[in-house]
Amino acid sequence: MRTNYCGLIDEQYLDQTVTVKGWVHRRRDHGGVIFIDLRDREGMVQVVIDPDTPDAFALADSSRNEFVLSVEGRVRLRPEGTKNENMISGGIEILAKNIEVLNIAATPPFQIDDENLSENVRLTNRVIDLRRPMMQRNLRLRYQVAMGVRRFLDEQGFIDIETPVLTRSTPEGARDYLVPSRVHPGYCYALPQSPQLFKQLLMVAGFDRYYQITKCFRDEDLRADRQPEFTQIDLETSFLEEDEIMDIAESMARKIFQDTMNVDLGEFPRMSFADAMFYYGSDKPDLRVTLQFTELTELMKQETFKVFRAAADLPNGRVVALRVPNGAKLSRKDIDVYTEFVGIYGAKGLAYIKVNDVNHITNDENSGLQSPIVKFLSENCLKTIIEKTGAQNGDLIFFGADKAKVVNESMGALRVKIGHEHGPADGYFVDEWKPLWVVDFPMFEYDEEENRWTAMHHPFTSPKAGHEDLMSSDPEHCLARAYDMVLNGWEIGGGSIRIHRAEVQEKVFAALKISPEEQQNKFGFLLNNLKYGAPPHGGLAFGLDRLVTLMTRAESIRDVIAFPKTQRAQCLLTEAPNHVDDKQLRDLGLRLRKKEGEA
Ligand code: AMO
Ligand code: AMP
Repeated sequence: MRTNYCGLIDEQYLDQTVTVKGWVHRRRDHGGVIFIDLRDREGMVQVVIDPDTPDAFALADSSRNEFVLSVEGRVRLRPEGTKNENMISGGIEILAKNIEVLNIAATPPFQIDDENLSENVRLTNRVIDLRRPMMQRNLRLRYQVAMGVRRFLDEQGFIDIETPVLTRSTPEGARDYLVPSRVHPGYCYALPQSPQLFKQLLMVAGFDRYYQITKCFRDEDLRADRQPEFTQIDLETSFLEEDEIMDIAESMARKIFQDTMNVDLGEFPRMSFADAMFYYGSDKPDLRVTLQFTELTELMKQETFKVFRAAADLPNGRVVALRVPNGAKLSRKDIDVYTEFVGIYGAKGLAYIKVNDVNHITNDENSGLQSPIVKFLSENCLKTIIEKTGAQNGDLIFFGADKAKVVNESMGALRVKIGHEHGPADGYFVDEWKPLWVVDFPMFEYDEEENRWTAMHHPFTSPKAGHEDLMSSDPEHCLARAYDMVLNGWEIGGGSIRIHRAEVQEKVFAALKISPEEQQNKFGFLLNNLKYGAPPHGGLAFGLDRLVTLMTRAESIRDVIAFPKTQRAQCLLTEAPNHVDDKQLRDLGLRLRKKEGEA
């Protein structure tokens, strides 16, 4: 029987006989003596096999990487000078007496400690990949976070209630995953984009405090921080105001970081959505980067330089500067790379000024400002730019001019990119955890493609007190009782106070131009039940995968999920999605459309 985990044996077991079981991580033949690093979930231990024990020696000799062994032996000190300080078992080794080969292993597709594997290789061979210490650590931390959440919410009186996975479409704004019904040909279930409507119904039903750690499904374009199925820590409460809900969520985040990582997140600052966009061009600002935008829109309305003037004159136009301390050292090539980078976000160029001498601000050849654009700007304008940005000799100033959306997205991304690349050396990046709440979100955003207002959060979010009338008169400036938790530039959670009165809900639907038929059709089961004495309620949901990605400093969300999907929504291990045969389709009453050109 196993007496110990490999990775946990230390000097306190000296001279004891132990039995360990695990995988051969490495085998080395040292002229007559064999060393095996045996690995289990807790780490590794060095096993020494001496020719004096011929049976064990023969088995060790024939063992290969990833063979599964049981080893019985005596714990002894490693020879002087060979101690490995980085491992619990680094000071000891096991002198084997008996070895049993529990299973042989085919040659694995890669070395477990190979750091240079492509993600495709890793995901195709996910089971072997999961043996790597990094993946073991990540999934264990994920478990600890989930346990910490359960403990915390249980103490706060929340109860876990499961909600359906085969259900109707939920309103989070992504495309649904549909499941065709066999019993009702032509009808489909939708997988939930979140438990939003069910958790509201649980409040109407009187449960007061609900939570669930649950899968959500969204068919949307995938990025480094998105998966088609992901896990939310979802909660909802009755009778609490936003401050109380935010306090619960913040305390939970603080406790999880404290307990699992010994990090004190401190009190979270709050920032309005408007300020976040104004200073950072993002509703999830990475506050580790201390650079901020300087607003120049009004100033450029006085200038003749077409690139800036045209943008400033647009009804939704914006011109900003981004001062980069010490940036004058950037080469032509660096600037070209950044220009290409902002192009991804739709920017048509990236004007810049190198600041050589702030005491010589003119717009001629002798200027202390070096740039292809100074000659197009008035001296007064150049002076104002230097003054407003606070630029010093040796700095560089970038400019973005376009529709506000393009400027915010492109310059916001540039701010973060430069901050990460040059900030640590040049003093505008702080390597600390930077949480914040973003509050005072607008109720609506304008969908330019569809030419209509859409809900920024979801259509059950309550407007701020006093903003109800703005919904019809001035939707752009109507604010919502919504809040997002942001950490290091990632939105890790979001929620709101919901609408619990029918007449307010009707106004929101009217503003969104959702007809009464469509309301009934899509959300009838919620609306009808809100009529029976719905309590004031609100909540939020955290993205567990994102939270753990940040905590583990993993490169992608896929590194904290045991069996994730690729950017193209495939599982390379099981090869899902897969072709289904005609019989299965027939049972569901489905036939695939012929591809174009097919007979
Ligand atoms: P929201 O849509 O903001 O809100 O989602 C909540 C949190 O879930 C995470 N998240 C994702 N994580 C990984 N992959 C995805 N595709 C993905 N999409 C979202 C984010 C996000 O902050 N029902 C509301 C919550 C509420 O109002 O209570 C909702 O789902 O971290
Ligand atoms: P142009 O007049 O198009 O040659 O542009 C002059 C400078 O302005 C170049 O450095 C461009 O990169 C920059 N530029 C052009 N369009 C924009 C824009 N929309 N925002 C910021 N800079 C721009």
